Amino acid sequence: MPATVVIGAQWGDEGKGKIIDLLSASSDMIVRFQGGDNAGHTVVFDGKEFILHLIPSGILHKGKICVIGNGVVVNPKALLEEIKVLKSKNIGVEGRFFISTLCHIIFPYHSKLDELKEEKSAKGKIGTTKKGIGPCYADKAARSGIRLADLLDDAAFREKLKKNIDEKNEILAKVYGFSGFSFDDIYNEYCVYREEIKKYAADTISLINNSLNNSKKVLLEGAQGTFLDVDFGTYPYVTSSSATAGGACIGCGISPSRINKVVGVVKAYTTRVGEGPFPTEFSDDLMTKIRSKGKEFGATTGRPRRCGWFDAALVRHAAILNDLKEVVVTKLDVLDDLDKINICVGYEYKGKKLEGFPASSEILSAIKPVYKEYPGWKCDISNIKKYADLPKNAKNYLNKISELIGTKIALVSVGSDRNQTFKVK
Ligand code: IMP
Repeated sequence: MPATVVIGAQWGDEGKGKIIDLLSASSDMIVRFQGGDNAGHTVVFDGKEFILHLIPSGILHKGKICVIGNGVVVNPKALLEEIKVLKSKNIGVEGRFFISTLCHIIFPYHSKLDELKEEKSAKGKIGTTKKGIGPCYADKAARSGIRLADLLDDAAFREKLKKNIDEKNEILAKVYGFSGFSFDDIYNEYCVYREEIKKYAADTISLINNSLNNSKKVLLEGAQGTFLDVDFGTYPYVTSSSATAGGACIGCGISPSRINKVVGVVKAYTTRVGEGPFPTEFSDDLMTKIRSKGKEFGATTGRPRRCGWFDAALVRHAAILNDLKEVVVTKLDVLDDLDKINICVGYEYKGKKLEGFPASSEILSAIKPVYKEYPGWKCDISNIKKYADLPKNAKNYLNKISELIGTKIALVSVGSDRNQTFKVK
C-alpha cells in the first residue's frame, strides 16, 4: 500500500494538524518526518483543544501507530511533557508510539545558541521559535550531533556530550560572552530522560517499510510549510529542515517509489510568523481584523502571525514543487465579513511581469503583487456541512483559487472543530 504525504503549501500554520487528524481516521500509521517542537499542530474535537508539537496528530485516534521519523530533531523534555499532557487526557501512547534511534537530540546549548544568535543579529534576525532547531540541524550537518542511539549508549553519550559542551562553551563565551553549561548538569538531566524515553526508541525504518509491505496505510506528516523549507523557502527566513514532500523520504527512511499521493494544505488567506518577505501582507486595519477573527497567534510561541491576501503565485509554485494533485483549503470562514477579497495572481518586478518564483528574498521583498478582486459572501458559513450549501461567491472564490494554482480542491474547512469540514464535488 503506498504512502500519502501531507505538507503545508504556504509558510506553515495552514491547519495541517486538523487535516492530519481527519486523514488519520482512515490510516494505520502516522509518521512525522521533519522539524521539531517549533511546530504546533492544533486539533479540536468535543470542544477540547489539543496542541501537539512533536507527536503526530494521529495519536488522538485510538490504536493508531505513531512514529517520529529520523528527520525530526527531538527535545526530550518537550516530548515527555507532551506525553504527560496526553496521558492526563486519557490518551495513552504505550505500545503505539515510536521514535527513530537516528533522531538528533536537542540540548540546552542549542536553544541558547538560537536565542543569543537572534539577539545579536538584531537587524538580520530570522524570528525563530528559539527552540534550538537551527543549531541542532547545524550539528547534524557538521557531523557532531548526538542521536538517540548515542543517548542510549552511556559511554558514547558521555564522550560526545563532553566534546560538544567543550566546543559550545568556547563559542558561547567568545562570541556571546555567555558563561556556558556544566557537563554534569546536562548529563544527569539527560540520563533521567533516557530512562523514560528508551521504551519508545525503535528501528523505525523497518517499522515503516514493513507496514507498507503489509498493505498498511501510512500517512507522512509534514510540519511548517513549503516556503519555510531550507532549500525552497524564502531563504534565509526559513526553518532548517526539508518541509516539502521530498523531505518525507529522507525524514522517515522510505524510497520515493513508496509515495503515491501528496496533499497540500492551504489557508484561504496567507499568514507567516517571524521575519522575511511577505508580498501580500495586509495593512494594519485588515491585519488586526483577520488576526483576531482567525485567532492568528502562534501555537508554539504565542506570537501574533502576520496576515495577508491569498497568494496564488506562491501556492502555484508550491504545487509544482510538491506535485500537488489536490489541496485542502482551511479557514474559509475567516473571510466571512469582507466586502471584497483580493487574490494575488502574479508579481511585477521593476515594472515588468516576473516569470517563475524568485530565488532571492531581496527580489521577493521588492516585487509588487498583482491582484484580482472578488466579491465577498458576507454571511456566516461556519455551520455549513456540504459544499452545495456554500454561498455562490464563496464557491466562486474557491474555483478561482483552484484555477490559479492549477490544482483540485478536495476538502474545505470552515472552523476548528473536526466536523467543520466537507468534501468539494
Ligand atoms: P525555527 O524553525 O525556530 O528555526 O524558525 C525559523 C522560521 O520558521 C521562523 O520564521 C519561525 O517563525 C518559522 N517557523 C518555525 N516553525 C513554524 C511553524 O510550525 N509554523 C509557522 N512558522 C514556523
